[in-house]
Amino acid sequence: MKVLGIETSCDETSAAIVDEHAVVHSLVIASSQEDFSSAGGVIPEDAARKQIVCMMPVIEQCLNQANMKLSETDLIAVTAGPGLFGSLLVGTTCARTLSSVSGIPVTGVHHTLGHLFSSSLRWKGDDITQMNFPVLTLSVSGGHTDIWLRTSPLEGDLIGGTRDDAAGEAYDKGAKILGLPYPGGPSVSRASKDGDSHRFTFPVPFKHDDEICFSFSGLKTSLKYLIRDNTDTMDKQWICDAAASYQHAINAHLCDGIRKAIESHPEVRQIHTVGGVSANEALRSMIHERFGDREIVFPDMKFCTDNAAMIAIAGLHLYEKNGAKEFVTSTSEPLSKVLS
Ligand code: KG4
Ligand code: ZN
Repeated sequence: MKVLGIETSCDETSAAIVDEHAVVHSLVIASSQEDFSSAGGVIPEDAARKQIVCMMPVIEQCLNQANMKLSETDLIAVTAGPGLFGSLLVGTTCARTLSSVSGIPVTGVHHTLGHLFSSSLRWKGDDITQMNFPVLTLSVSGGHTDIWLRTSPLEGDLIGGTRDDAAGEAYDKGAKILGLPYPGGPSVSRASKDGDSHRFTFPVPFKHDDEICFSFSGLKTSLKYLIRDNTDTMDKQWICDAAASYQHAINAHLCDGIRKAIESHPEVRQIHTVGGVSANEALRSMIHERFGDREIVFPDMKFCTDNAAMIAIAGLHLYEKNGAKEFVTSTSEPLSKVLS
């Protein structure tokens, strides 16, 4: 079975072919991120306009790379939400149109569910990532920061989340405060490589609280005050040290969440970390250092940030369970409605 995945929830336009063994046969991601670097963030209308132009070429390139025709695919899976409404409409309209002219069924996929499946994907020839349930998944991106306790691919409970900003948002806002370019996560990560992560101490919230919850707005405010109080001494090294210390605080806070989740659910067999922030190398190292006695799984770097391969594999699981159900394009559908 071959699935064509389509993902256009933010500024990227992506298409992928994935089979029922979660093997990725092709993946194309066209990003307009560089066009938004001077604005310091995505301009939704501009993103959607660019996606209209490149949607069909991206799909054609993806089919060519897999050596396939559209008629050889068995299912179309598309991100139905959440995301930017105009961007979502480009992807879902394209998927519905392709489905109606070809007769291939189409299924709508919750974007965050796609991230949860990203750690099961593999490139042709790579080893299989066996999911050993119960799986604890830390899902960290620009829009959400969740901890899931999953008992099967489509079953699980949300056991922790953020009270304010998402972890990726904390990276993006921190980068802006530090004067580092958009997108913030990779910039902070790059600057941190030359920095001392112990030079500045940031408050780590809820450290001694049993509840599994996150908050990043205090960290961001502390960074603002640090800059305000040090404008005279700030040089390149100072910025790198501040970036490294800030990155360390975000990652330590995320690891605290994992620790509490494992303490209250010792039956967990694997720890997965997914979403754009899971591309952060320092976070990967910290998770390995702190939870090395457990089986730890990260997606391939290419599957961390938004991509259509994760939508294809999640869509396949949904289709096998529910068939080609009607879906609405929605900016705010909660994932708890999708996982049972
Ligand atoms: O999953 P994703 O591509 O899009 C959303 O669903 O939001 O995640 C994007 C987020 C952004 O906030 C970006 O700054 C962050 O992931 N990110 C990173 C890194 N790469 C992307 N954060 C920290 N370190 C990185 N290397
Ligand atoms: Zn995402």
